Amino acid sequence: MSEQQIIQYLPSSSYIEFLKAATDGVSGKTHLANIKWEDGIERDSWVKIYTATKPRGLVNEMIGYLLGSALNLPMPPRAGFLCLENKILNQNLVNTLSQVDQYRGFTFAWITEDVKGRNLRVELEENPAHYHIITEYIVTCLRDWDNLANMIAFDDWILNTDRNVGNTIQLPDRTFSLIDHGECLQGGEWQEPQLLDAHCPHIGFGDNLHLRLLYEKNKNNLFSMEDTLAELENAKLLHITALKKVAQEIKMHLTDLIGDEIVETGIEELPNYPVTETVFNFLSNRATAIKKFNERCDTFLSTNSIARPLS
Ligand SMILES: Nc1ncnc2c1ncn2[C@@H]1O[C@H](COP(=O)(O)OP(=O)(O)O)[C@@H](O)[C@H]1O
Ligand SMILES: [Mg+2]
Repeated sequence: MSEQQIIQYLPSSSYIEFLKAATDGVSGKTHLANIKWEDGIERDSWVKIYTATKPRGLVNEMIGYLLGSALNLPMPPRAGFLCLENKILNQNLVNTLSQVDQYRGFTFAWITEDVKGRNLRVELEENPAHYHIITEYIVTCLRDWDNLANMIAFDDWILNTDRNVGNTIQLPDRTFSLIDHGECLQGGEWQEPQLLDAHCPHIGFGDNLHLRLLYEKNKNNLFSMEDTLAELENAKLLHITALKKVAQEIKMHLTDLIGDEIVETGIEELPNYPVTETVFNFLSNRATAIKKFNERCDTFLSTNSIARPLS
């Protein structure tokens, strides 16, 4: 590879010790552990194990991390695939792994370095009496955050519908770091036909909470709608360059993770085609679809109800 590889492959010996379980999160089984990274330094890191019900989880995390990094969105400084031997895992967890992982005796976990921030979703859950105050605080910080438009455009690009408060970890300077892209591309259990329509609408998260916050920020401007759309359009323009920057690495991991899975069309005139290509074409077509993107935003912004489910 010409550029340096971003996502690390770590052997099972990199797992030093268990530290604590995650207090939230459901789609993967996640815990904090001490991990030795490629540079030999041990760091607190989150280990996320994908079970058989989310067979595309690792692919999705990889795509989210590489594209987000290429867009210079704030993300954990390191990410990797960690080989974990089933013998160190709880047997109940092993029973939920895919057949392949159970048979071969190891699985690959998704790992990210701890960003050392606050999970405001956990704080909301632990302080129900202060729900409204904390909610207001979260909304204010998100609205003031320089990367709000970039994050919305990014989530739309990769079809991430899970940008809940627990997946934007708050840093001490009231900005956010983005984690957890396991539910992008139509979800952790996507099937190839779902990726054939690259222009499908993004249903957003929480009735497009973030889009509405962006609009609220501009609402006193004379051209509030135009200003909001311009912010999103500028963010969208960065996607093609970002994809080019990491295309080679995405293709490499896609080959490793999906291998030579083929979509059988079942029609003689239509040849079978590789799944890796479907995924890449989906990202690539969606990266360039600026016109369709504007139409989608227009539709979302024209509805009146502002719902704020925060988790
Ligand atoms: N890199 C990270 N830095 C800080 N906290 C993290 C990180 N990765 C995961 N977490 C914590 O673990 C929780 C669960 O991880 P997540 O990837 O969101 O899994 P799930 O898909 O189960 O929601 C997160 O909500 C967060 O509290
Ligand atoms: Mg999560």
